[in-house]
Amino acid sequence: MPPDLAELRREAQSCKACPLWIHATQTVFGEGDPQARIVLVGEQPGDAEDRAGHPFVGPAGQVLDRALAEAGIDRAAIYVTNAVKHFKWEPRGKRRMHKTPLQQEIAACRRWIEGELAAIRPDLVVCLGATAVHALIDREATITGLRGRIIERQAGPAWLVTVHPSYILRVPPQAHSLVYQSFVADLRLARPFLPAPAGGPEDRESP
Ligand code: URA
Repeated sequence: MPPDLAELRREAQSCKACPLWIHATQTVFGEGDPQARIVLVGEQPGDAEDRAGHPFVGPAGQVLDRALAEAGIDRAAIYVTNAVKHFKWEPRGKRRMHKTPLQQEIAACRRWIEGELAAIRPDLVVCLGATAVHALIDREATITGLRGRIIERQAGPAWLVTVHPSYILRVPPQAHSLVYQSFVADLRLARPFLPAPAGGPEDRESP
C-alpha cells in the first residue's frame, strides 16, 4: 500500500529525527497536486518558508514561479517539496542565514521525501540543486555532470537535475540572464511530463 500523503504530513509535523527542529519554527512539508506527474525537490525551507509553513514562497520561490511560468508549467499542476523539512540557519546580526544541511540531516529526513514520492508516484522528479541530488540520486554526484537532460530509469520516476533557484539570485548581474535562461530551458524539459490539458485533443471524442 502506498503511504497516505496527508498522514505523512501530519507525522512530519512532530519530527525530531535530527536536531534541526529545535531552531526551526515548524516543519515545512511538500505541497501541490497529490496526483502530480512532476515533483520538484529543493533543499530546505528558507527564512520565509519557515515562517509561512509553505515551500518556496520566499525570494527563491519567486524565481522558481517565474521560471516555471516561462517554461509553461503551472505550479498548481505539480508538487513542490524539499529534501530537508526544517530550516537550518545561523544568526548573523538580526538575520537568520541559511546553512547547508549535513549528510546526516539529509539522511534523517529521507523518510519524508521517500514517503512523498511513494505516495504520489510521479513520472518525473526534478532535483533543484546539489542537496536534492545528494538526497535522491548520489551523495557524490555533481549538478554539472547530470543537469539538463531527462535521466530515464528502469524502475521509478525519471530524473531531471538543474540548479537551485537561489543560485540564480547569487550570480553576478552580468551572468544572471544566461544562468536564468538555462534554468528555464532545463525546466522546459519537464513540460512533456504534464498531463494533457482537459479538453485537449486526447480528451475530445472523434468526430
Ligand atoms: N529553498 C529551498 O530549497 N526550498 C524552499 O522551500 C525555499 C528555498
